Amino acid sequence: MAEGKAWRPYLSEFHADRAGITERILERSGDEGDEPYGWMSERIPSEGVVLDVACGSAPLAPRIGPERYIGVDLSTEELRLAAGRGAGGLVIADATRLPFGDGSVDAVVCSMALQVLTPLPEALAEASRVLRRGGVFTAMYPVSGPLSGWDAVFALRLLWSLRSRIGAPNEGPLRRPAALVRSVGLRLRAVESRCFHFPLNTRADIGAYMDSLYVPSVGRERYRRARSAMERSSWFGYAPVPLVRLSAVKED
Ligand SMILES: C[S@@+](CC[C@H](N)C(=O)[O-])C[C@H]1O[C@@H](n2cnc3c(N)ncnc32)[C@H](O)[C@@H]1O
Repeated sequence: MAEGKAWRPYLSEFHADRAGITERILERSGDEGDEPYGWMSERIPSEGVVLDVACGSAPLAPRIGPERYIGVDLSTEELRLAAGRGAGGLVIADATRLPFGDGSVDAVVCSMALQVLTPLPEALAEASRVLRRGGVFTAMYPVSGPLSGWDAVFALRLLWSLRSRIGAPNEGPLRRPAALVRSVGLRLRAVESRCFHFPLNTRADIGAYMDSLYVPSVGRERYRRARSAMERSSWFGYAPVPLVRLSAVKED
């Protein structure tokens, strides 16, 4: 189930059961005093209205500021968390049909969701449509590597436990980001990679990490066994979180 419509019900159930899970992992995946949302925020303009597509629990809202923040997501459970933290301007909507006018926002951000938004060309076309000319599009998404040393050993251990690869429907197109953004009228400015690390100090940490993975092709029993196997591998100490941040500009 790597492609298409089958993802929608899987994602919907996943986020209903585990709202806020992505934020719980990333906010603790710090390296050298920095964490992923802070790293991504360096590429978000400091002025103007910012639309956060697939905002989830709205971890970017405090960094952007409530007065210029609009968050959109399909999950009511995620949006409930976002509202609870005081993020204003929250809208339940599909990333492929944004309820905003052409050129109506100064920046669009998309954190940890480009890999799962389907169909991706439609979601990107919508992001570009609502962005004003010269406006900035910033995204952050997970990648599988490159990993080295213990990070690579951890990834192999995890894949062996799950007996399945961890993949998302848009992995392939995201390997060619310049062509992807160009097709919707955006000009690529930068694609940068960084590997953060989530600490695995307790069994609960390992459980939270396992819960954050999209693994639609792994059955319940296999997942339960993989989770127990990873709990016994706590000597790893941390899990790698390899990410890409992308920024692009809407063509004049
Ligand atoms: C991995 S979470 C990321 C949440 C948040 N941006 C973050 O960085 O923590 C992916 C989010 O995408 C949302 N999502 C998935 N498909 C969507 C769609 N078609 N339209 C809007 N939101 C969608 C999910 O509900 C979920 O909140």
